[in-house]
Amino acid sequence: MNNNFPDINILPITAQNINGALSIGGCELNNLVEKFGTPLYVYDEDTIRSICKQFTAEFNKFYQPTKIEYSTKAFSNPVVNKIIDEEGLDIDVVTGGELAVAIASNFPPGRINFHGNNKSEIELQEAIEYGIGTITIDSFHEINLLEKILKKKSKIQKVMIRVSPSIDPHTHLLTTTGILDSKFGFSIETGDAEEAIKRVLKINSLELLGVHFHLGSPIFELDPYVQAIEYVIDFCAKMRDSYGFKLSRFSPGGGFAIGYLSTQLPPNISEYAKVISDSLLESCEKYNFNPPELIVEPGRAIVGRSGVAIYTVGSIKEIPGIRTYVSVDGGMGDNIRPAIYGSEYSVIAIEKINQENNNKVTISGKFCESGDILAKDVLLPDLTSGDLLALPSSGAYCIGMSSNYNMQVRPPVLLVKDGIARLIKRRETYEDLLSTSINID
Ligand code: LLP
Repeated sequence: MNNNFPDINILPITAQNINGALSIGGCELNNLVEKFGTPLYVYDEDTIRSICKQFTAEFNKFYQPTKIEYSTKAFSNPVVNKIIDEEGLDIDVVTGGELAVAIASNFPPGRINFHGNNKSEIELQEAIEYGIGTITIDSFHEINLLEKILKKKSKIQKVMIRVSPSIDPHTHLLTTTGILDSKFGFSIETGDAEEAIKRVLKINSLELLGVHFHLGSPIFELDPYVQAIEYVIDFCAKMRDSYGFKLSRFSPGGGFAIGYLSTQLPPNISEYAKVISDSLLESCEKYNFNPPELIVEPGRAIVGRSGVAIYTVGSIKEIPGIRTYVSVDGGMGDNIRPAIYGSEYSVIAIEKINQENNNKVTISGKFCESGDILAKDVLLPDLTSGDLLALPSSGAYCIGMSSNYNMQVRPPVLLVKDGIARLIKRRETYEDLLSTSINID
């Protein structure tokens, strides 16, 4: 066994090289493929649990109390929600669907936070009926809806207000959320955030706990958090002085990056925790606040590293002097991220780990789009049809953003631990593809 193979830093923590073949969670991936086929997503339970523990320990080392809230949009799944619950984390949801999955997973409603820039009246009603812990208000429309719903129910709902601090975290524009030109949150700069706080404080059925912001995702730099925390706490002080606003909870959102390439590793959890904690404590001291409860909302960082996507090589097309396309049996239907964000992934030839990576190839998917490329110009060993390829760091936002484009069925998901693989999502069937269509003749 040799664990000095490339990409070990971005693979699940249980990854091993067993005689030149990749194994995760004690399961050799080629054996899993024999049983479950490809494309296949494999999640390592130990990695998820270990990262949950690290988040809780590292943040609470620097700041108490901190609550870690898993952002289920990264991968919303009943078994994962159960693991998150067992590890003592809270969760957030952004739609009635994610909420329904959480409730079906028996996740305690009081530990769920509801985000989203356009929650519907029905979604809000359902959330309140479930007894959801917190609703993070994102718009004036939502304030009106909540006031109306709560009046009918004569209930009091705990809420946070999402503010937008006009700070650029230098990530992809499509995943940047805290700048002025964003659909999310109440802008501090325009005065909307102040107006929102004023209005919410006047509504007796809303108990305002504090403020939230989310800058974007993934954020590889630490400084944007520091700048935003200072700016938002300064704003909170103004709200306290003008309107008697009390800050008992504060959330700088999520956005913690993971390594997609072993050459581009993000800060570790401890570094994020220290910087966020230090700047919150300093700002609280400067503006004379008792330190509020801190909530952080990692999504990608909790599940990203634990998931590996596995594909089988099919056709190989060499265009001399230009490029070699190695096509696999999945692609943009199960991982849209390279196509929309230009995200880069490492690729591993699962059964050829000990071989030299000396061929430059482009890994293309099977969907009918030229942009269906999973990894451009990556170095791999000699490949032939039937070889198995793995894309590490595929646990977040791949299955969650998957589609049935070209009527391709979505892949199954396995959870592995101690040599045992359990199916937690089966492969879709052609019947599934037709299950929502209604014939009218
Ligand atoms: N909290 C809020 C309010 C959010 O909007 C998000 C992500 C998170 C937490 C979790 O962020 P994370 O820790 O996972 O970075 N589809 C994109 C990512 C979109 C993230 C949207 N909001 C991608 O594949 O990169």
